Parts: sequence; structure tokens; C-alpha cells
Amino acid sequence: MADVSNLKRRILTGDRPTGKLHLGHYAGSLLNRVRLQDDYETYILLADVQALTTHFQSPQLIRDSIFEVAIDNLSVGLDPEKATFIQQSQVPAIAELTVLFSLLVPVNVLRHNPTIKTEARQYGYTDLTYGFLGYPVSQAADIVFLEADLVPVGDDQLPHMELTKKIVRRINELYHAGLKEPMELLSPVPRLKGLDGGAKMGKSAGNAVFLSDDEALLERKIAAAKTDTARIRKTDPGHPEICTIYAYHRAFNDSSCPEICESCTKGTIGCRDCKQLLAARLNGILAPVREKRRYYEQHTDLVRDIIVTGTETANRIGNDTVMKIKEAMSLSL
Ligand code: TRP
Ligand code: SF4
Repeated sequence: MADVSNLKRRILTGDRPTGKLHLGHYAGSLLNRVRLQDDYETYILLADVQALTTHFQSPQLIRDSIFEVAIDNLSVGLDPEKATFIQQSQVPAIAELTVLFSLLVPVNVLRHNPTIKTEARQYGYTDLTYGFLGYPVSQAADIVFLEADLVPVGDDQLPHMELTKKIVRRINELYHAGLKEPMELLSPVPRLKGLDGGAKMGKSAGNAVFLSDDEALLERKIAAAKTDTARIRKTDPGHPEICTIYAYHRAFNDSSCPEICESCTKGTIGCRDCKQLLAARLNGILAPVREKRRYYEQHTDLVRDIIVTGTETANRIGNDTVMKIKEAMSLSL
């Protein structure tokens, strides 16, 4: 039988560097990345051009966030020996493929993309830029330039995955390019709620615990979080299923949940104690993360090297892919 042990499948994930990563990212995707890096060739795309589609007025924020996001990834345990970090804007292959793919994508398909619609509403856009409307095409290029097999994503990214697969099929049909069709790998855990009980922990919503928050700040944020408003006195019976703090216990402290659920429902634990248990647990989880962060923050040259070297690797792969697609499209003499 052929030896396939060194033919590891390729995973690509992307982050928009528009700010620091938080516990929602940790539970929803970072942990998963750390687990997968042993079994897959792992690539992490720092999608700075995509970040600019909404933040073109804040280029400095994006630049700083590239380092923040790389350090967030490294500090939770992404190993630079196993994971390749890529700065999107430094990979011309992505820009080239975006142009070629754009030939095949009707504008109305982009206009009806549910994620584009939601984001346009969130940002209050009435007149969309060409770049924003077209970023799903560029995201397809992010995935295809590397010929990724698997793309771990949250469900908001599914429309972009569908588009990517459609483009690949079309290119293969029209030009016989023999491109690999990527598959999404849906996040195994549901989205983490915000500290304010909002549907989602967000970078800019002011309802997040950041991976870079120190112990005291984390404690203060947890102490101020909303709980079941029916609980005024400790003896009032609570409803853990509607409580944000309980949702965090579920995400980060699962083994203690039956006990917490029972004491809350019976009114034998106060919210303050319940929050302290959670803060202690989270600070325990984050202790090694903070230690790694300190190391990388003191060695930013190393972080830069990791990104530059990774981007070089990506360019080697990307140039081959572009050549292959251009040849298939008769764009060579
Ligand atoms: N759109 C993704 C997000 O907002 C980020 C991203 C950019 C991405 N390029 C990608 C995700 C390629 C997966 C694959 O989270
Ligand atoms: Fe929420 Fe805990 Fe208070 Fe119950 S005791 S309402 S689970 S914080």
C-alpha cells in the first residue's frame, strides 16, 4: 500500500485583524485549531485586505491587529513549527485569483449573499463598495490559492464556502483546471454570548473578555455581567438556562455544571459566588496563555519572522496555483 503518512491534508483558517481575539474566538475556533494542527498542515491567514473592506479608514488599527491576532493564536498554543501564518496583503496570488474568479460571479449572487446583507446592515452601509461586495470572491481566492482541503468556520461563513465551491466547480468545468474542492468544517460549539447577555461576544461590542485581559480585569468583567434578573436574594430560585454566566460555565467548566445548576435552581448559591467560581476557572485556563503571550510580546521580532517566513511559503504555493489556473485558462503563450 502507498505510504500516505506524509501527505497531510491542508487546513486553512482566516481571521480579520480588526482587534484582539476574545473568549468567544477561543471556545469557537482557537481550541479547535490547536487540536487540529497535529493532524493537518495548518495555515492561518491574517486577512488584512479583507479587514480593510470595512475598516479602510483605520489602516493603523489593522496593522497593529495583525500582531495582536498572531500573538493571540500563538499564545493559545498554535505552534509555529506546525502552523504557517500568512499576511494576506503580501500574497499577490490571492489578488490575481480574485480577478480571475470575479469573471464568473454574477453581481446579484453577491448582493443576495446573506452574510454580506447582515454585515452591510451592521455597518450601516447603503452604498456598498466594490471591494466589500466582492470580498466573498476574494475569500474564495484565499482558500483556492492554497488548495486547502478543509476550512474550519462558523455558520456565518457558509455562504462564502458555497460560493467558493461553485467557483471551483465552474473553473474545473470550463477550463479543466483540476482544482480541489474544499470542504467546510463547522465549529463544534455554539457561539458564546456576550457579557451583557447579547447574542454574541463581539470585538467592538464592549461585552467581551479578551485573551489579553489580565486576571483582575477578567474578574471585574465577570462580576459585572448580567445574570438571571429574578435572583435578587441568594435564596431566590434561579434559571441557569437563561443566565450568561451559566452559559460560560457550560463552555469552560462543564464538569461542575450539574452542581451549579442544582444550587442555582434551589437558591443555595449566590450569583457572586457563582461568578467567582467561573472567574477562577477562566483565570486557570488563561494562566498558561498569558505566560506564552508575555514571551511573544517580548519577542515581537520573532512574531514578525513567523509571519514573514509563513508568507514566503504561501507565496511559493500560490504562484504554482496561479500558474496552473492561468495555463488552464489559456493565459500563457
Ligand atoms: N471572513 C472570515 C471571518 O470574518 C475571515 C476569513 C478571511 C476567512 N479569509 C478566510 C475564513 C478564508 C476562512 C477562510 O471570520
Ligand atoms: Fe447565573 Fe450562577 Fe446566578 Fe444562577 S447562580 S443566576 S447560574 S450567576
